[in-house]
Amino acid sequence: MSISSAPTTSAPSDASAAAAIEAVDLTKKYGDFTAVDGITFSVAQGEAFGLLGPNGAGKSTTMRMIAAVAARTSGQMRVAGLDPEAQGPQVRARLGVIPQQDNLDEELTVRENIIMYGRYFGLPRKYLTAKADELLEFAQLTNKARARVEDLSGGMKRRLTIARALVNEPEILLLDEPTTGLDPQARHILWDRLFRLRESGTTLVLTTHHMEEAEQLCERLIVVDHGQIMAEGSPQGLIREHSTREVLELRFGMDRNPQIATGLEQMLREAETAMGFSHVEVLPDRLLVYADDAEAALEQIHASGQKPMTSLIRRSSLEDVFLRLTGRTLID
Ligand SMILES: Nc1ncnc2c1ncn2[C@@H]1O[C@H](COP(=O)(O)OP(=O)(O)OP(=O)(O)O)[C@@H](O)[C@H]1O
Ligand SMILES: [Mg+2]
Repeated sequence: MSISSAPTTSAPSDASAAAAIEAVDLTKKYGDFTAVDGITFSVAQGEAFGLLGPNGAGKSTTMRMIAAVAARTSGQMRVAGLDPEAQGPQVRARLGVIPQQDNLDEELTVRENIIMYGRYFGLPRKYLTAKADELLEFAQLTNKARARVEDLSGGMKRRLTIARALVNEPEILLLDEPTTGLDPQARHILWDRLFRLRESGTTLVLTTHHMEEAEQLCERLIVVDHGQIMAEGSPQGLIREHSTREVLELRFGMDRNPQIATGLEQMLREAETAMGFSHVEVLPDRLLVYADDAEAALEQIHASGQKPMTSLIRRSSLEDVFLRLTGRTLID
């Protein structure tokens, strides 16, 4: 046993005692490999907060440390004012956890899954029978109450996992990739339920590598890559700060894209129109022209004699922010 005599300068301050979650220099190593590399963030009570990042960024590892199921290597952490490492059971009692992989009991019915889970928390049966009905209603699974888990669709299983996590009326809900792998319709049903929870004042912390999900659900987020925070802000704030208002997507044909990019960039830079041009990004299959007024950029390109095979104008997204910050795309 060693007692550290290092000064505790980075201990969470009293001023932020009301934060739902506070992490300071949070680090997790697996042997020599650093999965979470000194991240500092805080989540206010009632906030919808996101961790957006690609595969292997350290999102699940961070969630497991918040949920008191993985120990941190170093750094400080408070969840509902408590230290998850020293006060694991108390922390878990105040959290609802939706892990990346559903871990429902396939042997039990939908309704029994909720009741059994509540028993782990020591909740009384009378409370649980009423609560299960309420949660099934919320998760739009009332007509599946007696079905076995194995007979549910992927979206229904995800909704059941969320319903189950709400059984102890948690003040903080941790959702690790709540909709990854679901089809668009199932995803939208889930977003609607999560939006309701957000409205009800539950603190939501979710991870995703789906930028639209982050834009839809998160008030504020951190962009993580290789265990580090690349940027922090609201979805709109991040887009304003790191991208242009619009993006023009062009295809000239696979081999011609990189070659054309350089000339295009120079031409647009020298063009004397107020299009708010920023830069050109080369992806394997297309070019992305970043400009506040993409229509004006396209006109300029046409006027210069270039004829793209296809062109598409869209608003900037968090995907563009991620590309700008890391040089890579987020893969869904
Ligand atoms: N138990 C472990 N032992 C060793 N390395 C691990 C362990 N758990 C995670 N890692 C590594 O830590 C890194 C971060 O993993 P983590 O699961 O936190 O990423 P993630 O952001 O959740 O990724 P994904 O989007 O794929 O879920 C990865 O490189 C992973 O291989
Ligand atoms: Mg993960």
